[in-house]
Amino acid sequence: MVLFTPAELGSLSLPNRFVRSATAERMATAAGRPLPALLDLYRQLVSGGVGLIITGHMYVDAGGKCHPEMTGIHEDDLIPDLAALVDGVHEVGGKVAVQINHGGMQCSRDTVAQTVAPSDINVEFLQQPARALTEEEIGETIRAFAQAAGRARLAGFDAVQLHGAHGYLINQFLSPYVNRRTDAWGGSLENRMRFLREVCRAVRVEVGEDYPVFIKLGLADSPDLEPGLSLEDGLAVVAACSDMKLDGVEVSGGIGGSRNLNSPTRIRRPDDEAYFRAWARAAREVSSDGAVALPIMLVGGLRSLPVMEDVLASGDADFISLCRPLICEPDLPARLRAGQERATCISGNRCWPVGVEEGIACKCRLPKQEVA
Ligand SMILES: Cc1cc2nc3c(=O)[nH]c(=O)nc-3n(C[C@H](O)[C@H](O)[C@H](O)COP(=O)(O)O)c2cc1C
Repeated sequence: MVLFTPAELGSLSLPNRFVRSATAERMATAAGRPLPALLDLYRQLVSGGVGLIITGHMYVDAGGKCHPEMTGIHEDDLIPDLAALVDGVHEVGGKVAVQINHGGMQCSRDTVAQTVAPSDINVEFLQQPARALTEEEIGETIRAFAQAAGRARLAGFDAVQLHGAHGYLINQFLSPYVNRRTDAWGGSLENRMRFLREVCRAVRVEVGEDYPVFIKLGLADSPDLEPGLSLEDGLAVVAACSDMKLDGVEVSGGIGGSRNLNSPTRIRRPDDEAYFRAWARAAREVSSDGAVALPIMLVGGLRSLPVMEDVLASGDADFISLCRPLICEPDLPARLRAGQERATCISGNRCWPVGVEEGIACKCRLPKQEVA
C-alpha cells in the first residue's frame, strides 16, 4: 500500500503519507501561549501513526488573530513555549510543521476591534465590516509573516505552511471578490498574487533556501461569489509555486461565503469523499514539468482506506491530509493499518467550539452512537 510507504516532502523525510491537516485546536491562553493539552494531543497523533502534523493556524500579528484561544507566533517571547511544543513532538519521533496565518476580514470581533482586508468590505457572512489595508500596512504584514516564519525555524518546527485558503488574508488578496484595489496589489492576477509573492520572498530570506515552506491553497472561491477566484486563476497560482520557491501545495478551497465550501457535512459514501480531488489532479498537471513534480497534499472528505489509496495510486496526490477524522480518532492511521476500513467521523461539524460553556478545545461533540 502506498499509504504506509515513506516519502519526501521538500527536504523532509516522512514515514508515511498521512498528514494531519491544520486544525485550530483552540488550546492556547489569551496571550497565545500553547497549553499543555496541545502537546498531549500532538503526542497522541504521533503514536497513532500520523507522518506529519500541521499545527492549527497561528497568528502572525495581533491584528490577524482569528478567534479566541488561537495560538500565537507573533512575538519572540513565544519562542520558548513553541520550542517546548516542538521538542515534545520530536521526543516521541514525530514531525511538526506550523501553519502561519493572518485572518484579515475574517477575524472575530472578540479578538480584533477593526478588521482589515485588501479593500473595504462589508458583507453578511462577516462578523464586522473590514477596512482596506494601507500600502504601509501591507509591507508590515508581509514582514509579520516573514518574522513568524523565522520564529518557527528558531523554535525547531520542521516546516512552515502558509495559510492561503478558506478566506483568510492571502486568499483575500488573490480573490477579486475581496481585492478591488486599483494599485499594484489588485486588478490583474499578477497584481492579486503580488502579496503572496512578496510573503514568499520575505519568508525565504528569513528561513533560508533549504527550509521547507508549503502552502495550503484555496484553488477557487465558492461559485456564488461574483467575481470570486476562478479555478483557472487558482491553477495559475499553483503553476507559479515553484517560482515562489514553495516546496509543496495542499489543495483546498477558497472563500466559502455563506456556504461551507471547505468542511461540508454528511460525507457518507465513497462518492462524497475527496471533494477536491479533481483540483488536485489539475494542480499536479500544471505544476509538474516531466522530471520535477511539486508535492501535492489533498485535503477534504477523505474517509475510507480504498479512496485514500486510490488517490495516491492514481498519482492525483502524494499525501492524504485529514482534519475532522483525526479529531474523532487521533490514532486513525494505526487503525487503518490494523484493518479498520474507514474513519468513524460522519463530518457532523460538531467539532467547532460554539460557546464558552463547551470548553475551549476543539473536539468531537457528537453522541458516540451517532459517530459510530
Ligand atoms: C474544527 C476545525 C478547525 C480547522 N482549523 C483549520 C486551520 O487552523 N487551518 C486550516 O487550514 N484549516 C482548518 N480547518 C479545515 C481543515 O483543515 C480541512 O481543510 C477541512 O476540514 C476538510 O478536511 P476534512 O474533511 O478532513 O475535515 C479546520 C476544520 C475544522 C473542522
